[in-house]
Amino acid sequence: MSHAFHRNPLHDYPVAVAGDGVYVYDREGRRYLDASGGAAVSCLGHSDRAVIEAITRQLEALPYAHTSFFTNEPMEALADALIATAPKPLDRVYFTSGGSEAMEAALKLARQYFVEKGEPQRAQVIGRRQSYHGNTLGALAVGGNFARRRQFAPLLIGATHVSPCYPYRDQREGESDAAYGERLGAELEREIERLGGDKVIAFVAETVAGATLGCVPPVRGYFKRVREICDRYGILLILDEVMCGMGRCGTMWAFEQEDVVPDIVTIAKGLGAGYQPIGAMLAARPIYEAITRGSGFFQHGYTYLGHAAACAGALAVQQRLREGVLAGVAPMGERLESELRRRFGEHPHVGDIRGRGLFWALELVADRKAKTPFDPGLRLHARIKQEALKAGLLCYPMGGTIDGERGDHVLLAPPFVIEPSQIEELVHKLETAVESALINT
Ligand SMILES: Cc1ncc(COP(=O)(O)O)c(C=O)c1O
Repeated sequence: MSHAFHRNPLHDYPVAVAGDGVYVYDREGRRYLDASGGAAVSCLGHSDRAVIEAITRQLEALPYAHTSFFTNEPMEALADALIATAPKPLDRVYFTSGGSEAMEAALKLARQYFVEKGEPQRAQVIGRRQSYHGNTLGALAVGGNFARRRQFAPLLIGATHVSPCYPYRDQREGESDAAYGERLGAELEREIERLGGDKVIAFVAETVAGATLGCVPPVRGYFKRVREICDRYGILLILDEVMCGMGRCGTMWAFEQEDVVPDIVTIAKGLGAGYQPIGAMLAARPIYEAITRGSGFFQHGYTYLGHAAACAGALAVQQRLREGVLAGVAPMGERLESELRRRFGEHPHVGDIRGRGLFWALELVADRKAKTPFDPGLRLHARIKQEALKAGLLCYPMGGTIDGERGDHVLLAPPFVIEPSQIEELVHKLETAVESALINT
């Protein structure tokens, strides 16, 4: 009997014992094609020698030294590497062990920035419905997945939520992208006014909405409009690229494709590619300087901040991305998209195929024309996950796409090193899994 407290205590998990490229093997010798990188983590697959060797070298030299005493070489080099690719005014990198920690750091830094600036009345954060920013209390509060938040509501800070940018369901018939973006901007502005323009700290959004909405890229111009509104009210724009950043959408930063620069951006998953747990928050120079010229200390900190072996691994991941792996994401993404459209484009139960780079999702519907979701009681997403496992495929289906209760989607985020024949294998196995799950619905 296991003594591990598993993610789902009622579920029996196979034991993963080995990884080779895009494949994971369990103890029974079954092979799974990893079509979701776990949860958009394993961008280099599961056996990248350069990353493993960089971590091993660092472990032999120095695994860890507490950052209240020392800085370390891989942390400095990784911060330099990230800032070299990030547009100004992003200037400083604060390392964490994962995405939720990065989001907590972002929220606290944003609050402290205004305290340092003499605007302590700013205490409100605005997020978006159907967003996910992590499971720690601050990140959960800002996140907009109501099913995940509900039972913890009494413990959460007071964040409010506006609509996500979700064209498949919310863009009106005949409404242009510009008009839709404008309508969402007006809603954000109304919310800021309702709370009081000088009361708001930040607007928080995933640049490309990931786990809970299913890979939804924003319409063109939406984030530019959001940036203008934030600037007008002196509000910080925090973009969460924990899932969609680090090349996943075809560019190092997903926001590069939106022509905006956030004041704070968070990253994690693809940063360490699963070889070590690591996340980070990048802050704009004026925010950093408000701290250094003010109290001089960011009232925060984690034991594993800037962990040397984790930073060494992430630095090696950065090098691999620059050596050509990142350049392959867009073309391979196009291949994945066309294969998905070929197999599912006319499927009666696939309402939407959307994504960017190697970050794609199918939204499943009972009735394609009316966009009616399946009965949540069927737990179609969970069935697809099980059928996919049977077919030797790891994908990331999720329920509650529409409102935390209704809707099902399947998220795909394969390793960037996937090959064309493996894309075909992926889509073929996905088709098998979806068809098997749909039987008896
Ligand atoms: C957009 C986003 N933000 C934050 C998180 C939380 O990251 P972690 O699970 O590493 O704490 C996730 C995890 O899925 C995420 O997708």
